Amino acid sequence: MKKILLSGIQPSGKLHIGNYFGALKQFVDLQESHECYIFIANYHALTTVTEARTLRTNTHEVAIDYLAAGLDPEKTTLYLQSDVPEVTELAWIFECITTVPYLERAHAFKDAEAKSKEINAGLMNYPMLMAADILVQDADVVPVGADQKQHIEYARDTAEKFNRLYGDTFTVPKAHVLEKVAIIPGTDGRKMSKSYGNVIPLFATPDEVKGGVMAIPTDSKGITEPKNPDTCNVFALHRLFSTDELPELEMRYREGKIGYHESKEILVRNMDSYLAPLRERREKIAKDAKAVAGILKAGGDKARARAAAKMKEVREAVGLV
Ligand code: ADP
Ligand code: TRP
Repeated sequence: MKKILLSGIQPSGKLHIGNYFGALKQFVDLQESHECYIFIANYHALTTVTEARTLRTNTHEVAIDYLAAGLDPEKTTLYLQSDVPEVTELAWIFECITTVPYLERAHAFKDAEAKSKEINAGLMNYPMLMAADILVQDADVVPVGADQKQHIEYARDTAEKFNRLYGDTFTVPKAHVLEKVAIIPGTDGRKMSKSYGNVIPLFATPDEVKGGVMAIPTDSKGITEPKNPDTCNVFALHRLFSTDELPELEMRYREGKIGYHESKEILVRNMDSYLAPLRERREKIAKDAKAVAGILKAGGDKARARAAAKMKEVREAVGLV
């Protein structure tokens, strides 16, 4: 029996290469060896997106991105989170066995607090909805980027607490984080993130790729000065896109045989050849919006049927029936 793999991405903006290497590419690589459930976390996106039209457009775009990146609906159940409303019921039940101080320890919550943002109750309860996504499908493995690791800990703790209180009901899931791509840096050197405005979109045009790469800040070392590949944000992207040339580039860096401008030009060229086939595939898929909607509908039906069966057990266990 294959292990159950589940993950999702919020439709809060265009997917970027951090999302791709940190999350999406892993989903694609693992879809042969696992029974896969991959969804679009549109309920989660409601914590930040308050315009219906934006949410709808982003959701459709992410669906196309998933398919273009290589998720195969024959192998992976692709669905919208909101087509499984059982997760909101389960999240409520989890919120009732979770303390407020525990939720206040979440990185995302603390970040918002530190920035004196207005924190909605949805943001605070975000980890419980995420736990519900994972546990309602009995997932074994959850592939994510490093920034989501803590959320998987919340899901594990919640499964254990529920099982202790009400009897063995949920599988305790494991995070799957590839250390090599755990944090892809953005064009300003911080973690690439939709919320920092430092992204290179996965489906960027060649001009956007060039603009993004040329904007990456470097130090002021001249061409002949030795450079440290381990601290260079351009080199961090070479590690993803220039795998064949990596030893040579590393040598040229260390021996002062390459300037940042040339390094960036090589990177742009390699990114373009890596991304071109994905871009082409995306264009084809985007032409058939009906087919995309049909794939999500079929996936939603399947995911919902599983969730409904699990919720029957849960309702029984907590005394709602
Ligand atoms: P963002 O920070 O851009 O809003 P999300 O929170 O929607 O991204 O993340 C979606 C998935 O992509 C998660 O699994 C997350 O861990 C991964 N991810 C996001 N940014 C990066 C990055 N810079 N490097 C590696 N993985 C990332
Ligand atoms: N919080 C995740 C993110 O921002 C998205 C997400 C929601 C998720 N529910 C999930 C990821 C369940 C894995 C499993 O990327």
